[in-house]
Amino acid sequence: MSINPLDNKSQAWSALFSEPMSELVKRYTASVEFDQRLWQADIAGSLAHATMLAEQKIISAQDLADIERGMAQIRADIEAGQFQWKLELEDVHLNIEARLTQLVGDAGKRLHTGRSRNDQVATDVRLWLRGEVDAIALLLTDMQKSLVSIAAANVDVILPGFTHLQVAQPVSFAHHLLAYVEMFARDAERLADLRKRLNRLPLGAAALAGTSYPLDRNRVAELLGFEGVCQNSLDAVSDRDFAIEFAAFSTLVMVHVSRMAEEIVLWMSQNFGFIDLSDRYCTGSSIMPQKRNPDVAELARGKSGRVVGHLMGLITLMKGQPLAYNKDNQEDKEPLFDTVDTVKDTLRIMAEMIGGEVAADGSRSGGLKVKRDAMERAALKGYATATDLADYLVKKGLAFRDAHEVVAHAVKDAIALGKDLSELPFDKLQSYNPTITADVHAALTLAGSLNARNTLGGTAPVQVQAQIERHLVRLG
Ligand code: ARG
Repeated sequence: MSINPLDNKSQAWSALFSEPMSELVKRYTASVEFDQRLWQADIAGSLAHATMLAEQKIISAQDLADIERGMAQIRADIEAGQFQWKLELEDVHLNIEARLTQLVGDAGKRLHTGRSRNDQVATDVRLWLRGEVDAIALLLTDMQKSLVSIAAANVDVILPGFTHLQVAQPVSFAHHLLAYVEMFARDAERLADLRKRLNRLPLGAAALAGTSYPLDRNRVAELLGFEGVCQNSLDAVSDRDFAIEFAAFSTLVMVHVSRMAEEIVLWMSQNFGFIDLSDRYCTGSSIMPQKRNPDVAELARGKSGRVVGHLMGLITLMKGQPLAYNKDNQEDKEPLFDTVDTVKDTLRIMAEMIGGEVAADGSRSGGLKVKRDAMERAALKGYATATDLADYLVKKGLAFRDAHEVVAHAVKDAIALGKDLSELPFDKLQSYNPTITADVHAALTLAGSLNARNTLGGTAPVQVQAQIERHLVRLG
C-alpha cells in the first residue's frame, strides 16, 4: 500500500514543517473530541463530492467505487463504536480521510481534489444543522399541540389576568395558554425561514477562491438536498450567520419557554395554588419533608441562560474576522451543539410536563392539573371586573373617563367593606350613578366579564374556542 501522508500528521503537516507540534498546541487546536458528532454529514458530503468528481471525470469510476466501499466500512465502524478517533488528526475531516486512505489507498488521497476543509466544514455544519432544524420543527409542533390540548379542556376556567403582576381582568385559562401557542407558532415560522438560508451549499468554494477543477456545484447541491449553492466563495467558507440566526431563533424559543416556566413555578406555589404537576416532574427536599419542587420548570427557565450566552458567543466569534476562513470558526461548534441539545430537551420535557405523555394511539396521560376553584377564587379577589362596571356605565351614556372615576369610588368603598364589587348591594351600587339598574350584577360576574370581550383575539369563550379550532386545523 502507498504511503499515507496523513499517517504522519503528528510529526508535521507536510514536508514544509521541520518541527513537530507540542502536546499543548495539539490539544489546543484539535476539535475531534467534539466535532466527531458531524461524522454522518462529513461522510454524506464526501460521497456527494466524490460522485460529482467521477461524473466530471476528475476521478475514475474505480476511485469512486473504492471511496464508497471505504466510507461504508468507516460508517459501520463508527456506528459500532469501533472507530479510533485520533487527537493528532485534529478534526473529524482528517480522521475520516486518513482512515479512508488507510482502507482504500490512492482513491482516498484523491477525495480531497477540488475541496478544502474550509468548504467541507461549512458544508458539514449546515447539513447537520438542517437535520436538527427539522427535528426541532416537529418538537415545536408537539409543544403547541400539548398546550392546545390543555386549553381545549379549560375554555371556561377563569383566572385573573395580570398586568404588573397585579390582578387586572379575568381571562380564560385556555386563552392564557394560547398566548404561548402564538409565541411558539412564530418561532416555527422563524425556523422555517432561516432553514432556507441555511440550506445552501458551500462546497466548491474550496479554500476561499473556488477551484481550478471543473466541478459541478449544482450537482453536489442536488445530491445533498440543498436548495441552492453559495454564490461567493469567500462568503461561503467564512460566514457563520446561519449559526447565529439559529442561535437567535433558539434564544427566542428559550425566552418563551422561560416565561411559561416562570408562570408554572408561580402557579404551583402555595400562594397561587392554580395548578399541580405530576410527581415525576418534581423533586423533594433533603431537609424539608413537605416540599415538592417544580425543578423541571425551574431548569427550563435556567437553561435559557446558556442559550442566550451561546448567541452572544457566536456573534462575538464572528465580529472581528477578516475574510475569509479563520480558525476562529472552529469555535462555532460547541455552542451550536449545546444550543441544539438544550432546545430539544427543553421543548420535549416541557411539552410532556404540560400536555402529558402521548401514547401510540394519540391519547394523553398526565400533564398539568388545573385547580379551577383556586383560579376563580383569585379572580374574584382583586376587583378584576372593575373595568366591566366602567364599560357598563359607558353603555348607559357616561363618558369613559367619568365612568372610570365613578368606579374608582365604588372600588374604594368595596375595599373598605372587604367585599367584591359584585357583592355590594344593589342600592349601594346605584348610589354611585343613577343609570345603574338591576342588570348590573350580570356584568360584574366573571363569566359576564369574559363573554363581554367578544372581539377577535379576545378572551370570550366563543373566541377562544374559535382559536382552538384554528390551531387544531393548522397543527394537523
Ligand atoms: N476543524 C476546522 C473547523 O472546525 C476545519 C477547518 C479547518 N481549516 C483549516 N484551514 N485549518 O473549522
